[in-house]
Amino acid sequence: MADGPDLKAITAAQQRTWSDGDFSMVAAMITFVAENLTETLTILPDERVLDVACGSGNGAIAAARRSWGGAVGADFVPALLERGRERAAAERLEVEFVEADAQDLPFEDASFDVVMSIFGAMFAPDQERTAAELLRVTKPGGWIGMANWTPDGALADFFTILVKHTGGPPPGTVPPVLWGNEEHARKLFGDGIVGMRVERRVSRQIFRSPEHYLDFFRRYFGPMKMAFEKVGPEGAPALEADILAYLEKVNSDERALVLEPEYLQLVAVRA
Ligand SMILES: C[S@@+](CC[C@H](N)C(=O)[O-])C[C@H]1O[C@@H](n2cnc3c(N)ncnc32)[C@H](O)[C@@H]1O
Repeated sequence: MADGPDLKAITAAQQRTWSDGDFSMVAAMITFVAENLTETLTILPDERVLDVACGSGNGAIAAARRSWGGAVGADFVPALLERGRERAAAERLEVEFVEADAQDLPFEDASFDVVMSIFGAMFAPDQERTAAELLRVTKPGGWIGMANWTPDGALADFFTILVKHTGGPPPGTVPPVLWGNEEHARKLFGDGIVGMRVERRVSRQIFRSPEHYLDFFRRYFGPMKMAFEKVGPEGAPALEADILAYLEKVNSDERALVLEPEYLQLVAVRA
């Protein structure tokens, strides 16, 4: 792979980006996605469940409420894992939080009955390797569940704005939102799965106004915070204007800012 992208360097840069801000504040707005995916996966008592790129643990915590025997969350941002530990302790739930890269999971082959990832594994730059890792750690006959933003949904436009202002995507990488395309996801899993069910859903987020959203995301959402740091004071007004225009365009309500970005929920059975 002499001319390929430097995936190690890209992953390290992404780790710094997700460490910026405090994603746990944003995660509080998408708990419903984890609850819905977990319900669809029909987790049973004592099943071993892994939430990959778990952030502050939405998926792992939802799973632990159903598995009784505990769950595992893995992410490459230690501060988010710490927030997950606090949340699990507050609910008296058994969740183990492990620092790990989704492309190189520190778990034995076939060690989980259910493996899930919510808007997480989709961001790892090596999509083939990530899919292979999700498959590797899932038991034959076990379930893999994902929630992925779609390429034709509002979140794809949002990421396009951030990328446009910060100098384009790393050369040679594919857009993370391709994971939200059913055919692409099927291709990534290949014959590692024997069946897949998908559903297009929306994740509703409500703010007082576009300015309220901008203020919140600039403070807590690493990729946005990093984008403003990259463009500096000279580039900030143009980035701000593009984000506000995007928010006005996708707002589905007149009384507040109501966002309903689409995502693909997929549930597959490991071969
Ligand atoms: C949009 S957040 C979603 C977090 C969580 N799944 C949730 O639903 O709240 C993306 C998460 O993926 C993690 N992440 C991104 N790339 C990763 C990688 N290569 N390995 C491990 N974690 C990764 C980030 O640290 C971040 O916590």
